[in-house]
Formats: sequence, structure tokens, C-alpha cells
Amino acid sequence: MKVVLIYAHPDPRSFNAAIAAVVREELEKIGAEIKFKDLYAMHWNPVLSAKDYAGYDNGTTAEDIKAEQTDISWADVIIMICPVWWNSVPAILKGYIDRVFSIGFAYEFTASGPRGMLNGKKALLITTSGVDKHAAEQSGMMELINKSLVDAVFGFSGFAGYQHKNFFAVPTVSDNERQEMLTELRQFIQNFI
Ligand SMILES: Cc1cc2nc3c(=O)[nH]c(=O)nc-3n(C[C@H](O)[C@H](O)[C@H](O)COP(=O)(O)O)c2cc1C
Repeated sequence: MKVVLIYAHPDPRSFNAAIAAVVREELEKIGAEIKFKDLYAMHWNPVLSAKDYAGYDNGTTAEDIKAEQTDISWADVIIMICPVWWNSVPAILKGYIDRVFSIGFAYEFTASGPRGMLNGKKALLITTSGVDKHAAEQSGMMELINKSLVDAVFGFSGFAGYQHKNFFAVPTVSDNERQEMLTELRQFIQNFI
């Protein structure tokens, strides 16, 4: 199994970093081939530029986008890991999606409407939030993320299956609870894969 793991957190001591390490361990246990993308370490440029945009018409694609598209095409599974920032994902990851999941690569418009092109792949978005489950339900945070990111990106791009898993109240729970979250994550990954 080939997996592209896209990780977006600026702090290597964060809980998200621990999540990324656990996901890698679980994937290695089953012998998965992994391409790990630490977007901050890569200094990923998240801005879809005028040149990128013009490329849709003149058929050119920036080298950094091309390299990512090659890896996404190679993968059977895409896993994204990041904190929830403003009920969304960090800008660096949003910009990865803007630039890499482009028209002609991730989707196209046909006479019968839009058609996803990344068929047959599976995707997983793993997030952490400051708010607890109750507050997230009150604010509609999970639906927002599901509609604006999970369905809108993975669904629209034609993925065969996709899920979102969030860990709640990460900054305020105890260390023990965070450890339990990581144990739960191990099981979740084995079930998802
Ligand atoms: C810029 C910024 C925006 C944030 N927005 C939200 C938010 O909308 N909802 C939420 O629950 N937590 C929000 N948080 C809190 C983070 O989600 C939380 O601190 C993080 O998930 C904890 O994991 P970490 O230790 O790996 O960073 C925000 C944090 C930052 C820095």
C-alpha cells in the first residue's frame, strides 16, 4: 500500500507531531510505502499565483506542483494531519490543496457536470481542536469541516472513500487523555487501512 502523508504543523513538539509519528509507525507496521510531506519543513508555497492560474490555459504547471501531483497519483491513500485553525485547516495546507488538487488533475468539468479524477483512492483527514465535543457540536465545527474540506475536496475529486477524525480539547485535557487519544488513533488507523 502506498501512502502520502501530508502534515501541517509548525511545531515539532506539538500533539500533531505525535499524531504524525503514530500514524507513520502504524503504517510501517503493515509494510506501507510512505511519502511524508512536512509542509512547514518543505517551505511549501501555499499561494496559487497568477502564473499558476494562467497555467490552466497555457498547459504549464509549476515544478513544485508537478512533483506533488506525481506523488498523489502514485498513492493509494492520502492522509492529512493538522490542527483546526479558524474552523478550517492551516493556510499552508489549504494552499497545498488549492495548488495541487487543480483542474485537469483532481477534477474536470464535463458536459454533464464536474467529474472527480482521483478515483479509487482513499483519504483521511486527522485534525485536533481546542474546543471539546460539545462546543464543536454547538458551533457546527465538524459539519463545516466536512462540507468545506472533506466532501468538497475528497468527494469532489472522486476519492473512493474518505473520513475525518478529530481529537477534541487537545490543549486542555490531561497528558493521560492525550496518550489515550494516541492509543485510539492506532486502532483507528488499522481499521481505516
Ligand atoms: C490560529 C489558530 C486558530 C485556531 N482556531 C481554532 C478553532 O477554530 N477551533 C478550535 O477548536 N481550536 C482552534 N485553535 C486551537 C488549536 O486547534 C489547538 O490548539 C490544537 O488543535 C492543539 O494541537 P497542537 O498542540 O498539536 O497544536 C486555533 C489555534 C490557532 C493557533
